[in-house]
Amino acid sequence: AAGDAAKGEKVFKKCQACHAVGDGAKNKVGPALNGIVGSKIGTHPEDFAFSKALKEKGEAGETWTEDNLKAWLESPKDFAKGTKMAFAGLKKEQDIEDVIAYLEQFK
Ligand code: HEM
Repeated sequence: AAGDAAKGEKVFKKCQACHAVGDGAKNKVGPALNGIVGSKIGTHPEDFAFSKALKEKGEAGETWTEDNLKAWLESPKDFAKGTKMAFAGLKKEQDIEDVIAYLEQFK
């Protein structure tokens, strides 16, 4: 990935109202994001109540590849119509790549 994880940690401040990641991370308004890269969409962690929009993607076999994460973080609503992630998206492509590199560190 072309992202910079250290810069991504700063970008992640925009996510922290709703998401935690790292040791002991718990679900908040949004799911905890450990192990998110490569996981099946809308299934991880199991104890989070995902929208139908994301669950259907997982049921169709889609995973959080880097391309899917990029599309999602650019515009959650366009990627998954009906999602409950109330976030407009990140405008800068570099911010998206950096935050993905940051998340990739947490297996
Ligand atoms: C879902 C990342 C900002 C609330 C997700 C998922 C990812 C993600 C990867 C999918 C999880 C999965 O399929 O297991 C991010 C990142 C953010 C961000 C990187 C910042 C750039 C936010 C904010 C909120 C939020 C600000 C709250 C206002 C949610 C919710 C879901 C979700 C509620 C579940 C969506 C659904 O079931 O449709 N987020 N998020 N996120 N996020 Fe975020």
